[in-house]
Amino acid sequence: MHPERHLSTTGSLADALLGQSACMCRLKRRLPRVAKAQRTTLIVGETGTGKELVARSLHQLSARRELPFVTVNCGALPDNLVESELFGHVRGAFTGAEQSRHGLVRTASRGTLFLDEVNSLSLRTQARLLRFLETGEYRPVGSDAVERSEAWIVAATNVDLQAPNRSGGFREDLLHRLQVVRVEVPPLQVRGEDILFLAEHFRDQAGGAGLAFTEGARHAMMAHAWTGNVRELRNRVESAVLLAEGDAIGVEDLGLASVPGLAATSGADDARIEDTLWALVEENGLTLSEAVTLCERILIREALKAEDHNRTRAASRLGIHVRTIFKKLARTDEVTLH
Ligand SMILES: Nc1ncnc2c1ncn2[C@@H]1O[C@H](COP(=O)(O)OP(=O)(O)O)[C@@H](O)[C@H]1O
Ligand SMILES: [Mg+2]
Repeated sequence: MHPERHLSTTGSLADALLGQSACMCRLKRRLPRVAKAQRTTLIVGETGTGKELVARSLHQLSARRELPFVTVNCGALPDNLVESELFGHVRGAFTGAEQSRHGLVRTASRGTLFLDEVNSLSLRTQARLLRFLETGEYRPVGSDAVERSEAWIVAATNVDLQAPNRSGGFREDLLHRLQVVRVEVPPLQVRGEDILFLAEHFRDQAGGAGLAFTEGARHAMMAHAWTGNVRELRNRVESAVLLAEGDAIGVEDLGLASVPGLAATSGADDARIEDTLWALVEENGLTLSEAVTLCERILIREALKAEDHNRTRAASRLGIHVRTIFKKLARTDEVTLH
């Protein structure tokens, strides 16, 4: 593996962090200040929410934009390799180390080093990283010589490192060192209309600008749980552009479940709601608990929309604790409709 492979091209407009929802606007307003401070930063969010894009945006917004942006996926390499990727090694440091090599900490010395999936680091590498963050100094594997690097460390995790007694163990002192600044990237499901906006963006990018989303497709996208977040949306839209027949993208092209009568229920009488719910259960072979989960999702989403994505107000409107909203949105036992 060569360090060059991790070097990014400079950001273009296509890499822009899109979205106008209240939570995304808040996030984007914060980034220039984070980029100016250049303190060690931890980006927290579910998979596919755009953590890497946030890291690249920070680099682009910072005074380091002309210098290297280097990424290391800590979860993709065996741990002993992660350590030598990061800090380099001398010749003969381990079997197969026929030549000495610089680490990425040095490649990024005046630029930005993005540590993706930092939660995957072993305790041993965590200790090395902690020492580097505390002193700016490190030793390549197998070397006694101390080296220095000024790299700006931006790390990402999709696991809540603050949860008590997490198995595997992440050092608390390292966590504090990493999250001098903490940036949270919200799940796609709470971004409301951003879902449709991003869908149109990815459709256009995939060469499908001439295709309209059907009403059913729009409803289905708004109701979907998006456990894979923006990455899932992008993948579904890209393959829908290829699959679509005629001039529209329908629910089936996206591989999503249709939400029958969802539009018709506003202001509908009780009988109408009963029919709609029953049709939903019957057509999709839902169990009671799946149907309830789906209804909860829809109501939480609507409450969030009505309350401008303020989770506390949305929770009080629904008469539940704000933590319950988090828990329900985080549930991964997705309801699949046919
Ligand atoms: N707000 C956004 N606007 C435009 N594209 C986005 C946005 N968030 C994520 N993406 C795209 O979604 C995909 C996943 O984003 P990524 O940053 O790799 O997520 P993560 O690192 O959190 O898993 C990428 O293709 C990225 O360009
Ligand atoms: Mg990622």
